[in-house]
Amino acid sequence: MLMGERSRASLTIGDNVQTMGRGLLSGKVAVVTGAASGIGAAVVDRFLAEGADVLAVDVAAQTSDRPGALAVTGDVSQAATWRRIAETARAEFGRLDVLHSNASVVVRAPAHELAEDDWDRQIAVNLKAAYLAANACVGLLRENRGAVVLSSSVHAMFGLPAHPAYAAAKGGLVSLGRQLAVEYGPDVRVNTVLPGPILTPAWDGIGEEDRLRSVAGTAAGRFGRPDEVAAAVTFLACAESSYITGACLVVDGGWSVMKDSA
Ligand SMILES: NC(=O)c1ccc[n+]([C@@H]2O[C@H](COP(=O)([O-])OP(=O)(O)OC[C@H]3O[C@@H](n4cnc5c(N)ncnc54)[C@H](O)[C@@H]3O)[C@@H](O)[C@H]2O)c1
Repeated sequence: MLMGERSRASLTIGDNVQTMGRGLLSGKVAVVTGAASGIGAAVVDRFLAEGADVLAVDVAAQTSDRPGALAVTGDVSQAATWRRIAETARAEFGRLDVLHSNASVVVRAPAHELAEDDWDRQIAVNLKAAYLAANACVGLLRENRGAVVLSSSVHAMFGLPAHPAYAAAKGGLVSLGRQLAVEYGPDVRVNTVLPGPILTPAWDGIGEEDRLRSVAGTAAGRFGRPDEVAAAVTFLACAESSYITGACLVVDGGWSVMKDSA
């Protein structure tokens, strides 16, 4: 690619095309983790707009009351949280149809500088939580031919400096998603989204030069919006993707294919 072409990249985030609210999840009950911020918050909004009831889970307090959403405060790396989520879904709604495991933490440091506790925490929140989710919720999901959508990252496929535990966890989620699809089919479909640069609070503290470098690496020439990932998650969660399981859906504005064509 010619350097001049990179000047097409900008820090804008594109137009929001209104496509939601078609009842794609009407009558369904969904769990969304990492619901207080960024992509998780957008998924909650989209699921609600599509007619679902939502258990919105986050370790952080959720300030805004969203009609139809039941806020659950808890740490997804703890088995007790998942037992509580499954019990709440059963008690409040009598069912569970969709599980979106999305919460994450990232600590940026090369492996030789990363504290062991920070390694363990990132593996626990980003990877172990998906196992705990399946362990606690698959029984409920099986009752109604449910769908699981895991949030991985393009970091699963590409090495980037200072993300050893995060990348290992995200790579593990791709393998775990395939594994769960095999174990729980045909009753439960399991798919994984791999977002690229999506402008969320996770980018707070990352400078303009690094932001521009990331968007210049996309074919779209811009950041993605949380609602654009939410659209992909909704597709994988609803009957529109009824013959898709064990798949990875990359939502990165072409960031990963640009690596192939560099
Ligand atoms: N934003 C991006 O550019 C990008 C790129 C690739 C992948 N992703 C993935 O998309 C997902 C969402 O990212 P985001 O940018 O919206 O992140 P974010 O930082 O905006 O939100 C993450 C949420 O997870 C919650 N959380 C953290 N630890 C938790 C725990 N132990 N228990 C429960 N909740 C916890 C946080 O409180 C926060 O609300 C993550 O899995 C992330 O790895 C994001």
